[in-house]
Amino acid sequence: MPSAVVPEAVRSLSVAMREDSRSEHDAAEHSSFMSELLNGRVNEQGYVDYLLRLRAVYRTLEDTVRARRHDPVVAAFYDPALERSATIAADLDHWAPGSAREVDSPAARAYCTRIADADWGGALVAHHYTRYLGDLSGGQAIGRILDRAFALGGAGLSFYEFPMRAKPYKDGYRARLDALDLDLDDAARVVDEVKVAFALNQALFDELTANLPAYRR
Ligand code: HEM
Repeated sequence: MPSAVVPEAVRSLSVAMREDSRSEHDAAEHSSFMSELLNGRVNEQGYVDYLLRLRAVYRTLEDTVRARRHDPVVAAFYDPALERSATIAADLDHWAPGSAREVDSPAARAYCTRIADADWGGALVAHHYTRYLGDLSGGQAIGRILDRAFALGGAGLSFYEFPMRAKPYKDGYRARLDALDLDLDDAARVVDEVKVAFALNQALFDELTANLPAYRR
C-alpha cells in the first residue's frame, strides 16, 4: 500500500483552516512579546500598545464585516455579539484613561489594509475566524493569566469577556464553515488567507517585541 496521503476532499474546511495554520499559530503563541506578557514581564505601557493595535484592527474588521454583512458568505458569520471594539475602548479607559487612542504602527496599518481590501467574502471570513475563534480559545486563558499577572481583580479585561459560551459557539461556527460548500479552490483561498492573517498578527507581535526593552517591568 502506498503511504497515506489524505485527499483534500476528505478534510472539512474547518479542519483545513486549523491544521494548515498550526505552525503559524504556534509561532504567534510563542512570540517573545506574548511570552513576556504572560510571564508578567511587560508593563502597562506594553499592554496598552498591544490594545491600541488591536483597536485599529478590530475597528477595521468590524466596520468591514458590518458593511458586507449581506454577502451570503459573510452573513453566515456576522454576529454583533462578537464585536470587540467597545470592549477594547473600555479596557483602554481602564489602562490608559484620557490618553490618545491612535497608534503609529506599520503592522496595524498593513493588517487593516489587508482586511479593508478583501474583495471576497471568503477572505473576510478567514480574518473573522483568525481573530474571533482565537479570542474564544486561547484568548480566554490569556485573560485569566493577565488578571493574575497584573493583579487586576477582573478589571480592564472586557476584551476577553464574551456573552456566549465559547465551546458551543465555536462548534457552531465550525459547522457553518463546513456548510459553506466551497469548491476546493475557494476552500484553499480561505486557508491561504488564514495564513496571511496569522502572518499579520505575527507582524504585530514582532513590532511589540522590538519595543520590549521599553516595556520591562
Ligand atoms: C499565547 C497566545 C496563545 C495561546 C496560549 C493560544 C492558545 C490556543 C488554544 C489552546 C487553542 C485551542 C482551543 C480549542 O481547542 O478550542 C487555540 C485555538 C485558536 N487560536 Fe490560539 N492561542 C494564542 C494565540 C493566538 C493568536 C495570536 C491567534 C491569532 C490571532 C490565535 C488564533 C487561534 C485560532 C483561530 C484558534 C482556533 C483553532 C480552531 O479550532 O480552528 N491564537 N489557541
